[in-house]
This record gives sequence, structure tokens and C-alpha cells, in this order.
Amino acid sequence: MKKLAANKVLCMQPVPQTIVSCRDKDGRNNALVVGFTANVSLDPPMVMVGIVPSRFSYHMIKEGGCFVINLPKKGYKKEYEYLGSHSGRDGDKFAALGLNWEDAKYINAPLLTDCPVSIECSVVDSMMPGTHELFVGKVEAVHVDEEYLDAKGNILWDKMDLM
Ligand SMILES: Cc1cc2nc3c(=O)[nH]c(=O)nc-3n(C[C@H](O)[C@H](O)[C@H](O)COP(=O)(O)O)c2cc1C
Repeated sequence: MKKLAANKVLCMQPVPQTIVSCRDKDGRNNALVVGFTANVSLDPPMVMVGIVPSRFSYHMIKEGGCFVINLPKKGYKKEYEYLGSHSGRDGDKFAALGLNWEDAKYINAPLLTDCPVSIECSVVDSMMPGTHELFVGKVEAVHVDEEYLDAKGNILWDKMDLM
């Protein structure tokens, strides 16, 4: 028999483990851990990220109109924990961690090279239902480490050791 839980917060589990990377108008890169991510449309392919306005990354995404969702491997734990607990406001997190990155192909943001999947997104809409602004992003490109693609370019999710 079911009973009512004492708390309604974060009642959807598991929460996705992603790192969102972005860039400001002066070219400064930043990244943060984001659990509020989801697929929202198949055609056209769209996803969403939920960002709290107090995050240093928030204005980068709001003003830049784009972001990258990176899916980390289990071995990226140290970086994941740091990016989810330190703010770019207090220092350059890319430099502090020595992150490997490259420019995205279609948007003005960095891809995290050591994450096996990086998804380039352009913001097409947003809404603020509560604590987080939900940015809906059109998927511009999905970059995947070669070893996780079959001959037709299909992603081999089962081979990946994602966090
Ligand atoms: C597991 C986990 C999930 C998180 N999910 C979110 C999220 O969905 N949205 C958000 O704005 N912050 C989220 N955060 C918090 C940010 O990652 C954290 O505050 C970060 O330091 C912000 O960095 P910034 O100020 O450089 O943007 C999460 C943190 C952790 C550890």
C-alpha cells in the first residue's frame, strides 16, 4: 500500500548527471553541474536545462542564447564535484581544473573534450515556473567519441561508462 511522502521536492529520481558549459560575451568559459535536464521534443530534436538565476552561468546562457550539455564518464567525478560546488564568479573553473575543451561547431560555447557526449543547443524559448528558468534548446549537433558510434553514426549508449 502507498502512503504520502513527507516531501515533494525532487520526487523524480534518478536525476540526470550532466555538465552544462557556456561562454560570456567577453569569451570567458564556464560550466556547472545541472540535474534539471530533459528531452522535450523529438522533431525537431529539443532538450531543456533548468538554471537558477543566481548561478554565474545563468546570464551567459540568457544573454548568449546557447549552451552545451556534456555527459560525463564515471572517471570525471573530481571535475563533476568541483563544477557543481564552485562558482565561476569566484575564479576560472576551467583553469582551476585544467579542463580540456574545444570550441563548439555551431554555437559560441565550449565543449568538454573529456566527456564522451556533448550536445550543442540554441535557446529557442524559456519559462520560469519556480526556482529554475527552463531554457529550451534546439539541438544543433551531438558530438560523440568515435568509439561510441557504429558505422552508421548511431550512438552505442550501452558501451559508455556514463556517470
Ligand atoms: C548534483 C547537482 C545537481 C545540480 N543541478 C543544478 C541545476 O539543475 N540547476 C542549477 O542551476 N544548478 C544546479 N546545481 C548547482 C550548480 O551546479 C552549482 O551551484 C554551481 O556551483 C554553479 O556554478 P556557476 O555559479 O559557476 O554557474 C547542481 C549541483 C549538483 C551538485
